[in-house]
Amino acid sequence: MRIDAVSIFPDYFQALDLSLLGKARQAGLIQFQAHDLRDFTFDKHRTVDDTPYGGGAGMLMKPEPWGLALDQILEEETDATIIFTSPAGEVFNQSLAYELAQENRIVFACGRYEGIDQRVVDYAATKGKVRLISIGDYVLNGGEVAAIAMTEAIVRLIPGVIGNAESLIEESHSGEGLLEYPSYTKPAVWRGLEVPPVLLSGNHAAIAKWRHEQQVERTKRVRPDLLGE
Ligand code: ADE
Repeated sequence: MRIDAVSIFPDYFQALDLSLLGKARQAGLIQFQAHDLRDFTFDKHRTVDDTPYGGGAGMLMKPEPWGLALDQILEEETDATIIFTSPAGEVFNQSLAYELAQENRIVFACGRYEGIDQRVVDYAATKGKVRLISIGDYVLNGGEVAAIAMTEAIVRLIPGVIGNAESLIEESHSGEGLLEYPSYTKPAVWRGLEVPPVLLSGNHAAIAKWRHEQQVERTKRVRPDLLGE
């Protein structure tokens, strides 16, 4: 998979050099490139924003630099998915991560200020599949952190990125849609706090039953919406 991100703060994406994502890049499982939107401006101040038609608070991102950036990144490409990060988009979740992990090319367009001129979104739709995606019902200063969060969630689902693929099956938001059960490692007693005895019993059926009960209890308590309640 190839992922590009367009932003006025491309340095944010240095975080993707770290950890599993860095290894996936080194292993050639993904290619990632961040682009500075200001490289597609021609004035002295490298201007990317302007006031909104019709009035209103704040500044909007101008279309011209975005058009040039998309032209350069996508050239003749038609099957790319272009994701505009926006609190006004569909909400990202694990099933969307699985869906996007099937793509060959993703371009993140990271807006700042009050957003991007709508014509950029319309133009992008002539170059590929456009999606507006939010990472949750809160407002960030820009889309960079959202693009990094989505990239991490998507890339770890690409075969070969996570060594132990089984760990993907049991985690929260996978399989049955329940939250993960609590986990413990050695020592069996730490600062007076004990590991639940069933986990030391060696009884695999009892352990599986306990873990499932914990998943249901935790999901009911903190995320009843996942159970349709
Ligand atoms: N930009 C600002 N807030 C955002 C959010 N919640 N998700 C995605 N992009 C954003």
